[in-house]
Amino acid sequence: MSATPSCLDSPSVLDALRTRTGHLHTRLEKRMPFFSSRLDLLLYQRLVRAYYGFYAPLEAALASSGWVPAGLDLAERRKLPTLLRDLQALGDDAQVCAQLPLCQCLPVVDSQAACLGVLYVLEGATLGGQVLRREMHARLGLDEHNGAAFLDVYGRDTGRHWKAFLSLLAVQPPDPAFQRAAALAAESTFSCFEQWLEQREVLS
Ligand code: HEM
Repeated sequence: MSATPSCLDSPSVLDALRTRTGHLHTRLEKRMPFFSSRLDLLLYQRLVRAYYGFYAPLEAALASSGWVPAGLDLAERRKLPTLLRDLQALGDDAQVCAQLPLCQCLPVVDSQAACLGVLYVLEGATLGGQVLRREMHARLGLDEHNGAAFLDVYGRDTGRHWKAFLSLLAVQPPDPAFQRAAALAAESTFSCFEQWLEQREVLS
């Protein structure tokens, strides 16, 4: 009897994303200022402004790309309203927010695979939120009401949103070209974000 190729034997798109970006996560995590001795409220505010400058154009690019999979509600996963709320709680009014610098070097969203690769990074970034929220509360007295809502943007829905996203990844075809395109976009998202944070002088 001839053996039928099984999807179970093929590496999944999630495997590819993890393999190709794990080291980028480790590097960036070490350079983020959350646990740095030089972190104070001013640096924290500059960090949230830098997040805003990356997420604003990238969320807009995703929304206008036409490549968001049908099963994913992008509106429900937007982080920008929460970032704006944090900035306002930290003292930036609407006029200041409208003039914040925006990142020009963004990952290209030109396929469904690329779209999922970018989303993998943005959705995965919500997973460290609990740890960061506790740290910012202990160090700077911040919580979801006075500038740190973004760190735990999904709150008790974090696990549910992540599992739903993983389910969406799991139904993608085990196609090497698809996996390469997704991983490339995820790598590019990590490196564009790191470069942008470096340019905004908020990294260690
Ligand atoms: C100091 C800052 C950070 C900390 C402490 C942190 C911590 C974490 C933790 C605890 C997880 C969950 C690991 C698990 O459950 O197995 C995680 C996953 C993840 N984080 Fe971070 N993170 C940080 C920054 C970031 C940033 C800035 C990004 C991207 C912009 C990011 C992207 C991801 C991704 C994509 C995953 C999913 C990995 C996977 O399970 O496939 N993280 N992080």
